[in-house]
Amino acid sequence: MNPEQVQKLSESILNYIRDGKNYPLEILTAKYKCELSDIVSAFKLLENFGYKFKKEKGGISLNSIPDTLIDFEIKHGLKSKLFGRELHTYKSVQSTNDIASRLAESGSPEGTIVISDRQTKGRGRLGRKWHSPPDKGVYLSIMLKPKCKPEHAPGISIITALALAETIGFFIEADIKIKWPNDVLLNGKKTAGILTELFADKNKIDYVIVGTGININHERKDFPEDIKALSTSLRISSRKKINRVAFLKEFIYRFEKEYLKYKKGIAPSSLKKIKKYSYLLGKEITLLQGEKKISGTALDFTRTGALIIKNETGKIEINSGEVTVAK
Ligand code: BTN
Repeated sequence: MNPEQVQKLSESILNYIRDGKNYPLEILTAKYKCELSDIVSAFKLLENFGYKFKKEKGGISLNSIPDTLIDFEIKHGLKSKLFGRELHTYKSVQSTNDIASRLAESGSPEGTIVISDRQTKGRGRLGRKWHSPPDKGVYLSIMLKPKCKPEHAPGISIITALALAETIGFFIEADIKIKWPNDVLLNGKKTAGILTELFADKNKIDYVIVGTGININHERKDFPEDIKALSTSLRISSRKKINRVAFLKEFIYRFEKEYLKYKKGIAPSSLKKIKKYSYLLGKEITLLQGEKKISGTALDFTRTGALIIKNETGKIEINSGEVTVAK
């Protein structure tokens, strides 16, 4: 068998023995009509990916699944229909957003996902870096082709934040907040960020790349000094290690559900939930837009994801900016 055939065989065997029962090797050779050496190579490959097996009485059973971001493990049992039909996983890349963008340019379908275990040039908003160490977080980009007008697109970041907040709530108990426009906070510290990049002309969206970085199993020592005080992870907050593959699958499914409801903007039911999670509403805030500074009370959100603030000049709708909350 060539390496590609061994890879295929290993995926089939894995799915066959997922129930944890003991399978005699001759049953596997008969089922897959191959040599014993092929079965052995397939198991070796799976062991290299981190799967653990129990070998006893001439048979083999699946003992544990690794927390490794492998495409066939993420695809297994993935409940989404559109998101992840095309899925690419990497050990290390510069930035998943760049790869997703290249895939969009070369004709990949909407919902294509790029995931990496590590990024060497992870990008944040406003030219910042996104710290992306291996084995700890999840760094992914989803390519979308929304049918809405370019001006309706900014709300996509906030529905991503909603899907993230709900996914986090599915795994741990914590004080989860969405800090408009693109952060998710746990107990007041940042655990996830979203970088949405829009490729469009005046009237039509070509595609959108939604890049999301989530601090999952980071410990305090994993954050560089300059962001340590402001950052957290699901693990720090809950003292539990979270399976990143399970997290990813849940997030992809929930984000797809939100996205399919997103037409001319955020669905009213989603907007209600976004308000419930909001860190800003009711607070006195200052917004920085380049050189411009606007202060006021955060009042509400529009269906396109803009923040409405109120100050002495009246109500103002804001589409983007860097927010600080008055003490
Ligand atoms: C921010 O909070 O400033 C946004 C951070 C976005 C980081 C993610 S990680 C996956 C994707 N690839 C990148 O280079 N950036 C985004």
